[in-house]
Amino acid sequence: MAMTDAQRTEEFEELLAETNTDAEAAFRVVEDHADAVFTWDYAKGKRPRLEKLYEKAKTSQWNGSDLDWTIDVDPDKTSREVNANDARGQFVAQLMSAPGSPVAHWTDKEWGQYSVESFGWRLAQFMHGEQGALLSTAKIVETVPWIDAKYYASTQVMDEARHVEVFARYLDEKVPTTYPVNHHLQALLDDIINDSRWDMTYLGMQIMVEGLALAAFGSMHKNTEEPLLKNLLRYVMSDEARHVAFGVLSLQEYYQELSQPEIRERQEFAYEAAVRMRDRFLQQEVWDRLGVDVRQMMGLLLSHQPEENVFQQLLFSKIVPNCKKLGLLDAGDGWLRTKFTEMGIIEYEDWVTTDDEYGAFDEVQRDRDAG
Ligand SMILES: [Fe+2]
Ligand SMILES: [Fe+2]
Repeated sequence: MAMTDAQRTEEFEELLAETNTDAEAAFRVVEDHADAVFTWDYAKGKRPRLEKLYEKAKTSQWNGSDLDWTIDVDPDKTSREVNANDARGQFVAQLMSAPGSPVAHWTDKEWGQYSVESFGWRLAQFMHGEQGALLSTAKIVETVPWIDAKYYASTQVMDEARHVEVFARYLDEKVPTTYPVNHHLQALLDDIINDSRWDMTYLGMQIMVEGLALAAFGSMHKNTEEPLLKNLLRYVMSDEARHVAFGVLSLQEYYQELSQPEIRERQEFAYEAAVRMRDRFLQQEVWDRLGVDVRQMMGLLLSHQPEENVFQQLLFSKIVPNCKKLGLLDAGDGWLRTKFTEMGIIEYEDWVTTDDEYGAFDEVQRDRDAG
């Protein structure tokens, strides 16, 4: 069912009204509403697939300081390359010729500025999202009742610290611009941290945010030849694939215990997360900084979504099959299937699930094999 014009207008006004109001604050405090749970059942390996993941994580650690930080990065060249090669850059470039485009007069110089700002914005949102993962996973260590999951989650805490560290360093040393956290991303991270139910942290972080991150990192990795960024991304992706697999394996078991109304709440949470992630791609902050009329630009971008925006849809290619594997697509009356169909992303439902593919991402193992 397509959205009516009235619904679209309402959504548009809500979007514009939402901006990051505490971007200048040094800290953000979020209530986490959850109990810390001790377990006295120390029997390791009760959940063999989680145990296997934990063993793999322990031998797949890498050190961000060992990346070659002496590499000289040309941000203009790198950002243009990333933009020109990916579908997002091509999509935005199409807007130049769209009727009423506020950027129709842009010259190569302005597009160059846009490339650098957009690149810095994307990396900054990666960094902020990684901090969200760091806090979420620390929370899972406390809240999940299973020892195999506490063990695994503790390795993920270390992974996420490393990810925050490498993105922050890359931004600081190699990119001339950075951004505060996008409002839609922060709102999603708040929802994930706020929820008292331990499995919601997994659904929001491991399935939705990290599922999207894995696809986004993959896209940037494919579209850049900058050796430091390429290497950094391939290592981060090998960790992320394990993290998404951790979510799938944990929730697959837990969801079998839940009632239909409880499953419906998970479907709604997944859908709301998907909408928030879609909205953050609008890059309001970038247009604003470049002096473009944000309202006009958002209108233009939204008028092209979602059907024509292939880049945006591809980002959901990990999320949809994993939701299907968890039984969320078709549970009840298939509510989530309907929603994902409306978003134009249902076509990914039969793509490979991450619990089946994470081993293929293991770069540390590959380097070791190579000698
Ligand atoms: Fe991460
Ligand atoms: Fe992660």
